[in-house]
Amino acid sequence: MELCVALDLPSAKENLALAELLKGYNVWMKVGFRAYIRDGKPFIEALKKINPDFKLFLDLKLYDIPNTMADAAEEIAKLGVDMFNIHASAGSVAMKTVMDRLSNYEQRPLVLAVTALTSFDEANFQAVYEKSIDAKAEQFATMAYENGLDGVVCSTFESRAIKNATSDDFLTLCPGIRPFGEDAGDQQRVATLNLAAKEGVDYPVVGRPIYKDANPKAKVEEILKVIATF
Ligand code: C5P
Repeated sequence: MELCVALDLPSAKENLALAELLKGYNVWMKVGFRAYIRDGKPFIEALKKINPDFKLFLDLKLYDIPNTMADAAEEIAKLGVDMFNIHASAGSVAMKTVMDRLSNYEQRPLVLAVTALTSFDEANFQAVYEKSIDAKAEQFATMAYENGLDGVVCSTFESRAIKNATSDDFLTLCPGIRPFGEDAGDQQRVATLNLAAKEGVDYPVVGRPIYKDANPKAKVEEILKVIATF
C-alpha cells in the first residue's frame, strides 16, 4: 500500500509548502483539477524540484471522444507524471485508443479508470447509471482490465470485488479514506486505513485529514507507520 496525498489547497504556495513538509517521505502527490487548472505545468516542475522522487498522480479524469483523450494522454505522458486517470464511462474504444497511443512511450504513466466517484451515494449514482454502484463499478473495472489499463479509481468497498473480477495485480486507488475515522466532509463512502488494507487497496488517497490537520507532517508519519504494519 502506498499513500497518495491530495494537494487540494487554495494556492500553489500552500500546496508547495505541504509538499516541502512531506519531501522526506515516500508518498504520492495527487495533483487535481484545482491545482492543475490554476498552476499547470510549472507546478508539476516545482514539485519535482522539491523531491525528484515524489511520485506524481495527475487526477484530471479525462472524458471526451477517443482521439481527443489519446491526444491529452500523450501530452500527460510528456509531462513526466507517473499516473493519471480517465473516466471508464468514456467507453472501451476510448480506453483502447489511449492505451494504444501510450504504447509508443518507453516509460508511460500508469493509467487508471474512474468507476464510481466516492461522493456518490447509491440513489444519486443509480439516477445517472441505472445500476447499483457495486455492479457498475465491477463492469467498468472489467472493461478497463480488458483494455489494458493498470487499475481503477473506486471506493474501498468495491476494491476486493474488483480484484476478484480482474486480477490481484489490477490496481485500486481509493479516495474517501479517513485514516483513523476523521470527518467525512462531502464523501459518502469513506473507509479507515485498516479497512482499506483488508480490502486490498493499493493507493489510499487522503486529502483533508492531512492538509486540515494542525500538524500534517505528524499525521503523515502516523499514517505511514500504520501502513508499514500491513
Ligand atoms: O479531502 P479528501 O480526502 O476527501 O480528498 C479526496 C481527493 O480525491 C479529492 O482530491 C477528490 O477530488 C479526489 N477524488 C475523489 N473521488 C474520486 C476520485 C477522486 O474524492 N472518485
